Amino acid sequence: MEAHNAQRSYQVVIAATRDMGIGMDMKLPWDLPNEYQFFQHITTRTCDPRKRNATIMGRKSWEATPLEFRPLPGRLNVVLTRSYCHSIPTDVDNVLVCGSMESALELLAKPPYSFSIEKVFFIGGGELLRHYLNAPSCDAIHLTEVDISVPCDTFSPRVDTCLCRPWYSSLPVVENGIRYCFNTYVRRKDLISGSDVEAEKYSFLPKMVFERHEEFGYLNLVQQIISHGDMNDNNTLLSKFGCQRLIFFYPVVLQKVFWVGVVEEILQLISGSTYPKVKPKLTLLIETNIILCSSFGVKATEEDGDHPLLTGLYWRHSDASQEFDQISDVINKIKNNPHDRGITLSACKLSLSPCQTFAQFYVANGELSCQIYQSSTEASLGIPFSIAAYSLLTCIIAHVCDVVAGDFIHLIGDAHVNTSHTKAIQKQLQISPKPFPETN
Ligand SMILES: NC(=O)c1ccc[n+]([C@@H]2O[C@H](COP(=O)([O-])OP(=O)(O)OC[C@H]3O[C@@H](n4cnc5c(N)ncnc54)[C@H](OP(=O)(O)O)[C@@H]3O)[C@@H](O)[C@H]2O)c1
Repeated sequence: MEAHNAQRSYQVVIAATRDMGIGMDMKLPWDLPNEYQFFQHITTRTCDPRKRNATIMGRKSWEATPLEFRPLPGRLNVVLTRSYCHSIPTDVDNVLVCGSMESALELLAKPPYSFSIEKVFFIGGGELLRHYLNAPSCDAIHLTEVDISVPCDTFSPRVDTCLCRPWYSSLPVVENGIRYCFNTYVRRKDLISGSDVEAEKYSFLPKMVFERHEEFGYLNLVQQIISHGDMNDNNTLLSKFGCQRLIFFYPVVLQKVFWVGVVEEILQLISGSTYPKVKPKLTLLIETNIILCSSFGVKATEEDGDHPLLTGLYWRHSDASQEFDQISDVINKIKNNPHDRGITLSACKLSLSPCQTFAQFYVANGELSCQIYQSSTEASLGIPFSIAAYSLLTCIIAHVCDVVAGDFIHLIGDAHVNTSHTKAIQKQLQISPKPFPETN
């Protein structure tokens, strides 16, 4: 994609504070060795061992790099300056001086660099980021969000989220008492004229980032079930037990989820509907799954119609007297005692345990996260449906409690697939994930 055009495209790698501060007195305003190691890995590693990457930087960023680290080893260092500068060596093979970003990108698009340079990273500083962070040639932005507010004299503009979509966001890391997250945004390809289906592929991302897309957690689980699952006695189900920590902020993107059905199910559960009201919805959900099955070219079976009939009833009337309302209790605790360690919704009864067994909520930094334990679920249709449903439930409760939705963590006991679905699942596993949908 990058190599033979008139100009190379590039990816930005920077770290910034809450206010987008990136530097102070020609230094980074923090000391985060692991963050620096991430920068080293992402900018140095290549898929082809015969190639190296290029790092483009402004002259001041070059000078701000400690002497022992410059030129950055293992990479072609491209330094931008409008004037001759003594601090930049011109007699070493891994340093190039260019008079503008455009001339640098043109040079890198021509031999020998078009063959020897795998990826181009633009690494700052602030003067150049003002023009090139949200520019059309920028394919992706790897932004470490450092959760501090400290004095800075150099700033980056914010990522324009109308132009970019999130690809990956890490859980927070704490180092030297500072909390930070790694985030990757990819440029929306539909904004580039002449873009086609090919352009929707995101393999230009560094492998270590590409594979961190949250959907791989789900895809790897489904792969594990069809490759190494336990077969039941009549050869109709493959299953695995104890599938942990699928972490999602967004619904699965590789597959259609029947959103109306998701909304109806959650509204119905919240309402605590009893049997007569449930029945038509249940029929709808069974029909939905049959439609989804046929859209994947497989025949639906009885398990596809499985539905947590009693979950909503237990949520709203859960104790012996049938009076205790767990949903109100959850909302009350989040509003009045958000650090309560037992903000839970249980659908368990001694005699019967519905498959959506248990949910726990957790509030930190104004974010509401939800972890559920599902005792049993069908993996190809049920997991995406549950992710969408419980993400929606988390958003609804967060809205009511005036906090924002955080992570959704999915723990599964028995995850299984129908053997008649495996062909369709294998087809799905061939497709690479896409950026997550945008939220307005
Ligand atoms: N947190 C991070 O991720 C990060 C990353 C990088 C840097 N930083 C910090 O940012 C600060 C440095 O950034 P800065 O904004 O002061 O400077 P900068 O953007 O790194 O460099 C500015 C210099 O680049 C050259 N330049 C600018 N625009 C150009 C253009 N269009 N064509 C050719 N050359 C051009 C000029 O060099 P001449 O004057 O020689 O013509 C200009 O003085 C430091 O504090 C550094 O530690 C932080």
